[in-house]
Amino acid sequence: MANLIVIGAQWGDEGKAKTIDYLTERSDVVIRFQGGANAGHTVIVDSQKFVFHMVPSGIMYPDKSCIIGNGVVFDAEQFLREVDELTEKGFSVEGRLFVSDQAHMVLPYHKALDQAAESRKSGVTIGTTGRGIGPAYADKAARTGIRVGDLRDWDAFEAKIAAAYSQKKDTIEKVYGGTLKMEPAPILEQYKTIKDRILAFVTDTSHFAFEASRAGKRLLFEGAQGTLLDIDHGTYPFVTSSNTIAGAACTGAGIGPCAIDHAVGIVKTYTTRVGNGPFPTEQDNAMGERLRKEGGEFGATTGRPRRCGWFDSVIVRKAVQTSGLTRLALTKLDVLNTFEEIKVCTHYEIDGKRIDQFPSHISLLEKVVPVYESLPGWERDLSGCRTIDDLPENARKYVRRLQELCYNVPILLVSVGPERRQTIEVDPV
Ligand code: GDP
Ligand code: IMO
Ligand code: MG
Repeated sequence: MANLIVIGAQWGDEGKAKTIDYLTERSDVVIRFQGGANAGHTVIVDSQKFVFHMVPSGIMYPDKSCIIGNGVVFDAEQFLREVDELTEKGFSVEGRLFVSDQAHMVLPYHKALDQAAESRKSGVTIGTTGRGIGPAYADKAARTGIRVGDLRDWDAFEAKIAAAYSQKKDTIEKVYGGTLKMEPAPILEQYKTIKDRILAFVTDTSHFAFEASRAGKRLLFEGAQGTLLDIDHGTYPFVTSSNTIAGAACTGAGIGPCAIDHAVGIVKTYTTRVGNGPFPTEQDNAMGERLRKEGGEFGATTGRPRRCGWFDSVIVRKAVQTSGLTRLALTKLDVLNTFEEIKVCTHYEIDGKRIDQFPSHISLLEKVVPVYESLPGWERDLSGCRTIDDLPENARKYVRRLQELCYNVPILLVSVGPERRQTIEVDPV
């Protein structure tokens, strides 16, 4: 398999981790390149379930390397929790899990700041995961962040924490009217305890990826969140604080674009969103409730119910355009098993005028009306299907129609269940 980037084509939770786990078998190195512990990536192998927030989803294969790249905002506590869980369950990460020394750290005060910003009385509420993502990326952009490599010089680290702490305290208390309950001393004590464990994973991951690629190893880049949560191309301000499109793999892993052979968009066969912001095909009704129940649509990070709606081809076309997708992976087709009729949004209308492209600014989204076509369901269990020919004709027609609506990008695979083996390969890379 060539080097490929896997990204979410909607608002996250498309089933990226399941697909990445599946594709890891024919890769050598799996690299997370953006986001942080806001991600909730579920991998289920032989009924054993892991939800990764920090560790790349390829870690289940004992002979593969995994990297947390420079573009990730690194949550050390969460990382160690996952390492411990993996080790307890018999998955050794020794010598094959690496963290970039350039990655910025998410510290406890970032989470407090995120939560204070979300609970303030005035202003826009994003509905964040509360994992400190926005404040950590804000520090990075302001050049006041603390990076993983800073743990190497403890005295300098202490001074940086002290400076950042008093600044965050002021913001939380004077700007947001909240209280910062933690003190710097216990934070420092905690990080002093874990620093050597963390440093054991730290390396120049950009160089590692470059050498791996030169040696003919296959790289798999694992995106988090989804295209419509991209800080530039998503439904700003209701977005996350990183670029989530394929281009971010280059900056977030420190590799050049010519090293990439394919960009795969993970596409749920209906649509979900967690948090606030526009969602044109949302079904805030019994149909949405049914999708949520059939799809088990509750956030893997926060447990929040996901908002559910019909497949929206307009947003997936945006993903094809912004990431140059060369394959689509369609997921959760089995969730639609019991539906007698399934709707797909083909385009929008504004004041009766046809709109095929996702509006580039949120102000233009207010008046869009989704236009649907109806397809007949298959009303059969798909979870045992393993080839495209096993699918009932109506399921095949549904897949074909989604592809047509998305610039006919070839389908890499169709997923019919959460387990690794519940995967139908269509057009491999
Ligand atoms: P990610 O953030 O894109 O990796 O996705 P999440 O792990 O947050 O959410 C996807 C959920 O759907 C998880 O609970 C997966 O186990 C589950 N899942 C993935 N693919 C399929 C599928 O094809 N069918 C079903 N029924 N569940 C799936
Ligand atoms: P994965 O990788 C779905 C959403 C939050 C909120 C917005 C900003 O599992 O697909 P943040 O905490 O990032 O500042 O929140 O982004 N969000 C996600 N939604 N899946 C995710 O990750 C998400 N990560 C963030 O709900 O609306
Ligand atoms: Mg998720």
